[in-house]
Amino acid sequence: MPATILVGAQWGDEGKGRVADWLAAESDVVARFAGGDNAGHTVVVGGAVVKLHLVPSGILHSHVTCVLGNGMVINPINLVKEIDRLAAMGVNISPSRLHISTKAHLITPAHVALDGAAEKARGDQAIGTTLRGIGPAYMDKTARHGIRAGQMANLEEFGDALQRAIEQANKILIAQGAEPLDATQATGESMDAAARLQPYLRDTTLYLNERLKAGARVLCEGAQGTLLDVDHGDYPFVTSSSPTAGGALTGLGFGPRQVDQVVGVAKCFSTRVGSGPMPTELEGELANWLRGTGENFWDEFGTTTGRPRRCGWLDAVVLRYAAQVNGFSELVLTKLDVLSGLNELKIAIAYEIDGKRHDFPPSTVSELERAQPVYETLPGWRDNISRARRSDELPQATLDYVHRISQLCETPIRTISVGPERDQLVEL
Ligand code: GDP
Ligand code: IMO
Ligand code: MG
Repeated sequence: MPATILVGAQWGDEGKGRVADWLAAESDVVARFAGGDNAGHTVVVGGAVVKLHLVPSGILHSHVTCVLGNGMVINPINLVKEIDRLAAMGVNISPSRLHISTKAHLITPAHVALDGAAEKARGDQAIGTTLRGIGPAYMDKTARHGIRAGQMANLEEFGDALQRAIEQANKILIAQGAEPLDATQATGESMDAAARLQPYLRDTTLYLNERLKAGARVLCEGAQGTLLDVDHGDYPFVTSSSPTAGGALTGLGFGPRQVDQVVGVAKCFSTRVGSGPMPTELEGELANWLRGTGENFWDEFGTTTGRPRRCGWLDAVVLRYAAQVNGFSELVLTKLDVLSGLNELKIAIAYEIDGKRHDFPPSTVSELERAQPVYETLPGWRDNISRARRSDELPQATLDYVHRISQLCETPIRTISVGPERDQLVEL
C-alpha cells in the first residue's frame, strides 16, 4: 500500500507545500490531484524561497517524478511560466520529471475572464476567488464541453476548440457588460504554450498504476483545504473541486487499497482568504499579531494573490470535522514558532448556535455565521522555539498545546513545524 495522501485540514495555506517537501524525500512520485494555480505552495530550502502554483512541491527533490493529475485544471500559459521560472532557478524540469495527465482540463483565457465577470456580478456576495478561472473551468468540465490537456497534442484541433470557447465566452461577457476577449491574442498565447507542453503529456492513470504496482511510493499533494471542498466545505464559499482525501482517488485514478496514510496539515491558528464564515476570526491587535506585518515571507498574506489573510484562534471543531471527512492517520501542525510571546492561547472546542452546543460544524452557512465559539484557554510560552529540533527542547506549554489539539481532534500529532525551512521540524 504505497500511497500517502496529504490534505489541508482548514481553509488552505496550512503549510502543505512545506510538509509535502518533507514527505517527498521518502517518495518516488509526487502528484497533484485537484485545483490549479489558485494554489500557492511555499517551500524553503537553504534560504531560497520557492513558490509553486501548479508544479508539485516534490520537484525540488531530484529523485522525484511529478504528476499533474486528471483532477486538476491547468492554465497552460501559467504552467509554461512556472516551468521557465523553476528552470531559471536551476531545477531540472524536463519532460522525464513532469507528466501532465491527458485527462486534466485546461483553463483558457475565457475562463479567467468569466471568473472575473462572475465575481463582479455577485457584488457583496462575491466568493473572493483567486480569479484564476478555476470555477468556470470546472463548470465546463462537468457540463461536458471542457478542453482536455490531451487536445494540446493536435494543435489544429486545439486551436479550433479554443476559438469556439472564446466565442462562447464573449457572448456571456458582453451580456454581462464585461469587455470581450481579443480572440486572436487569446488563442495565440495558449497555442504557443500548448506547443511547449506537448512533450509533458501522458496517460498518468496508467503511469501511476504501473509505478504503484512496481512498489513506488506515491505522495498525493493536496491543494486548498477541507473547508474549501465543494461538497464538504462552507458552500458556496468554496472552490470548485474536491481537495479532500476522496478527491485524490478520483483526481489520480487509483483505488483506495493503494493508500496507507492520510496526513492532514493544520496551522496552529486559523486563517482564511476570501469570503465565508470563520467562527474564530479575530480583529485588532491579536489578529495583526497572528498575521504579521508582511516583513516575513511567511506572514499571512496570500501566496497567489497577496491578499491579507483573515486570522483567528485555532478551531478544533474544524479539525475534528476534517479528521472525520478525510480519515487522517496523523496531523502535522505548522507555524508553532509564530505563537511564541503570547501569554495565553485559545482553542475553540465547540460552537454554540441558538443556545445549542455543536461539536461539528453545521452544514449551512447561515448557521455557521451565527456560531459562537466555546473557548478553552491554555498557557502560552515566551521562548523562541524556531531552533528546537527535539521535543525536549520545547517548552512544556508548547507540548501541552499540541497534545490538547491532538486530543480534541482524536488524531495523533507526531510532527510539528517550528519554521518554514526544510529542517525546522520536530518529531515528537
Ligand atoms: P500551503 O498553501 O498550504 O502550501 O501554504 P502556503 O505556502 O500558502 O502558506 C504557508 C506559509 O507559512 C508559507 O510562507 C510557508 O513558508 C510558511 N510556513 C510553513 N510552515 C511554517 C512554520 O512552521 N513556521 C513559519 N514561521 N512559517 C511556516
Ligand atoms: P492553497 O493550495 C487558500 C479560496 C479563495 C476563495 C475560494 C474560491 O495555497 O492552500 P477559487 O479561485 O478556487 O475559485 O477560490 O477558495 N482558495 C484558497 N485559499 N489557499 C488556497 O490554496 C486556495 N485556493 C482557493 O481564496 O475563497
Ligand atoms: Mg497556499
